[in-house]
Amino acid sequence: MTRSTPIIIDTDPGIDDAMAILYALADPAVDLIGLTTIFGNVPEATATRNTLALLELAGADIPVAAGAAMPLVQTPHPHPDFVHGVEGFGDALLDPPMRRPDARPAYQFIIDAVTDRPGEITLVPVGPLTNLALALQAAPEIAQQVARVVIMGGAVRHKGNVNAYAEANIWQDPHAAAAVFAAEWPMTLVGLDVTERVICTAADLAPMMETSPRCGAFLTKAAEFYFGFHQETEGIDGCHLHDPSAIIAALDPAPFEQISAPLSVTLEGAEAGMTREATRGPPIDLCLGVDAERVLGRFRRQLASGRLP
Ligand code: RIB
Ligand code: CA
Repeated sequence: MTRSTPIIIDTDPGIDDAMAILYALADPAVDLIGLTTIFGNVPEATATRNTLALLELAGADIPVAAGAAMPLVQTPHPHPDFVHGVEGFGDALLDPPMRRPDARPAYQFIIDAVTDRPGEITLVPVGPLTNLALALQAAPEIAQQVARVVIMGGAVRHKGNVNAYAEANIWQDPHAAAAVFAAEWPMTLVGLDVTERVICTAADLAPMMETSPRCGAFLTKAAEFYFGFHQETEGIDGCHLHDPSAIIAALDPAPFEQISAPLSVTLEGAEAGMTREATRGPPIDLCLGVDAERVLGRFRRQLASGRLP
């Protein structure tokens, strides 16, 4: 039995975030030690409520720490209601959570987890990078103590998805992204170069209706809204598997073709949030290619495993 990977997911759920969280709960290779929430697809308070409610749906008693509600510097952009719905899960509604979040803010939860278990914890941010930037500001030494940071975000040799230049997570807080990319920690970027090649369809989720009826019914309903957005804007029958791809890359980089290079991020102007290979800064493992069927196969298998209720 391979050892499981201790992971903290930093998340702005969000429909593909929900796919990633349920995947992480289903895959025995993941030791999900905590979730931290962030504004992005929805306001932070909604992200926190959604994360707690999703864990209760899945019967998972895992700590959740509430994170930043605003970017570090820039004026907040509007939340993309048209992508994930006003409440973040499309037309799927969850009962309000019974549990409350951890007493600590997200950045302190991250610092405590990483310093308690040096060299062991992988951080997987799948929303704006504000919490990680705040953690670095408060405790720069965590850069030497994390096992790895695996980011869903950015576009290296690929167009953006907010505009021609920027990917949503980076666009929402480019100053935080700049701080994260400048830190000397082991880092992988799982950007649109690869996540837009991994297309999840309704057929990929359908087996869950049998094997995990409670989570399957929720995810199938939530995904309808996300599929609709992709059909209208991209003409595809399904959705880009953005956030689950980052979880899978944190477990096994083999399906991803990577180069190592520093990464710049544009902070201001029309190209704010654009990420490009640079000549200065710490090297980052940048995913530029992917064996999409291998990633999708793992996603399908774990979601259909019956390990979720
Ligand atoms: O650009 C895609 C990313 O932005 C995903 O993490 C999605 O959930 C949104 O946060
Ligand atoms: Ca996300």
